[in-house]
Amino acid sequence: MTKIILAGGFGKLGLAIQTGLVGTNYEIVGILSGHVHDSQYPVWTLLDKINVSADIFLDVSTPETVFDNAIWAIEHDMAIVIGATGLTDNQITDLRSKTQRGILIVPNFSLSAVLLMQFSQLAAQYFPDVEITEVHNPKKVDAPSGTAVQTAKLIADARVNTPMKTSDGQARGQRVADVPVHAMRLPGYIAQQSVYFGGIDEQLTLTQSTTSRSAFVPGVLLALAGVEKITGLKIGLDSVL
Ligand SMILES: NC(=O)c1ccc[n+]([C@@H]2O[C@H](COP(=O)([O-])OP(=O)(O)OC[C@H]3O[C@@H](n4cnc5c(N)ncnc54)[C@H](OP(=O)(O)O)[C@@H]3O)[C@@H](O)[C@H]2O)c1
Repeated sequence: MTKIILAGGFGKLGLAIQTGLVGTNYEIVGILSGHVHDSQYPVWTLLDKINVSADIFLDVSTPETVFDNAIWAIEHDMAIVIGATGLTDNQITDLRSKTQRGILIVPNFSLSAVLLMQFSQLAAQYFPDVEITEVHNPKKVDAPSGTAVQTAKLIADARVNTPMKTSDGQARGQRVADVPVHAMRLPGYIAQQSVYFGGIDEQLTLTQSTTSRSAFVPGVLLALAGVEKITGLKIGLDSVL
């Protein structure tokens, strides 16, 4: 069994991971959390109280805690999977320079979102005219989503031809790498993204959506399997697919 310390294990994503790891080759040996919770696992609220060792430190805690957690896990010789958002570029550079084992930062565990990005890169080689819509729950603070921004950048890199010039009013979305991105915030949604490609008398639309946090579990399992095979720091689930 591969031993896992789970940070943020009682959050919305953490609870889905607790359930998702049952019956797999991964054993949760303890949970780091902001508060004490009743649990079948040991629960710590401070890093220096952790009194077990593990193979992998899996972090789905908060933007405020993720960096210090990663430094602690490096010092304790663990491979690290980071699903929590909020690391700055400087912090990522710092982690890259310090790690001896693999660190995998996964901004999106959703396999359908990762595949949507890959398919979009392929389509952008042939269809330079493209726009993105994304819909998330109103509680999401950032807009456009990190996944939409990343998709737009990948499309811009893959594009062979220049897109048509179009009007540029407020309703035309935010230009990210010259791709208009439209963000909606609506109850009833967790995450949905569509990429619209327009060609001569033809259209291609790619859509992915996530309807519960359980959707992230297959990606978490792939990340856990992948992180032990890499050295150094890598970003994105696609780097271990
Ligand atoms: N990569 C992906 O695909 C993906 C998908 C969804 C979310 N996320 C990211 O994952 C993170 C968690 O998301 P969420 O929706 O699960 O958030 P959430 O429900 O707010 O959960 C965050 C958890 O972090 C815990 N926490 C607070 N302080 C901590 C500390 N010092 N050490 C360890 N844990 C601490 C909290 O514990 P208490 O409950 O005890 O206070 C809480 O349970 C966010 O950064 C989010 O953006 C990533």
